[in-house]
Amino acid sequence: MINMTLINIDQEKCIRCALCSKVCPSSYITMEDNVPEATGQICISCGHCVAVCPTAAIDNQNAPLVNQVPLETFPVFDAHTAETFLRSRRSIRQYKSTAVPKEKILQLLNIARFAPTGGNTQGVGYKVINKAETLHKITTATVDWMKEKIALGSPLAPYFTSRVEHYRKTSGDIILQNAPCLIVAMAPQSFLPRGRDNTHFSLAYAELYAPAIGLGTCWAGFFEACAADGYPDLLDLLKLPPNMVVTGALMAGYPKYTYKRLVDRNPSQVTWD
Ligand SMILES: Cc1cc2nc3c(=O)[nH]c(=O)nc-3n(C[C@H](O)[C@H](O)[C@H](O)COP(=O)(O)O)c2cc1C
Repeated sequence: MINMTLINIDQEKCIRCALCSKVCPSSYITMEDNVPEATGQICISCGHCVAVCPTAAIDNQNAPLVNQVPLETFPVFDAHTAETFLRSRRSIRQYKSTAVPKEKILQLLNIARFAPTGGNTQGVGYKVINKAETLHKITTATVDWMKEKIALGSPLAPYFTSRVEHYRKTSGDIILQNAPCLIVAMAPQSFLPRGRDNTHFSLAYAELYAPAIGLGTCWAGFFEACAADGYPDLLDLLKLPPNMVVTGALMAGYPKYTYKRLVDRNPSQVTWD
């Protein structure tokens, strides 16, 4: 029997509206004799019960009422503002050389933790690398890995050849784009693939929030692929805690340029039944 009663109902305040049980995704709370009760096995700590209660009558040890900021008016952007906001996010590959203060990166990652995760499992950790020397070594190691893949005739080779050639000619940072900061997301090996899915949503939140605090970001997919392949030279540089693996990565810095037009993409492919 897993159920430990985590919820506390203030019977004076409870108006028996049943919203807490209706929104509970794991059927942890049910209405018994018109009163909410914890009858289920597992609470996933999502906090929906506490957040939805119109009278602040319910508290949940896993999602304490005291930590939930009251929301007077639900902030619905008009459709045009929302679309413009989402379509104006771009991958930034040209950065100012200015260092990004730790507080700013923490501000960015503080938003990442509010992203949705499977079963509210969260579980994404970060290692932030902002030493120029280490960033340079990461680029070199990733390029060396690409060269090996090309030499071995890997199916990835066609994606690498012209980039590596460009690197040979210019020494330009084709991996981290001279970003002053690399945010490496990590999760326990035993938490894959969910940890990777959770990372993607979390970093998507960070990417969307970044311009609001003056930052630009870009996914570091080549770096991630190299790490996921277990390339020892790269893993040695990262010095991740034992049993943790890279689940994603973002370059971050102050953008050098601004974009004057919104993104366009292929039309959505939608079928109906
Ligand atoms: C999983 C993933 C990996 C990516 N890896 C890289 C990368 O290694 N280097 C890079 O410059 N851009 C990378 N990108 C950025 C994409 O190239 C970019 O999102 C795409 O071209 C669309 O451009 P936009 O993000 O500016 O709209 C990656 C994006 C994603 C989602």
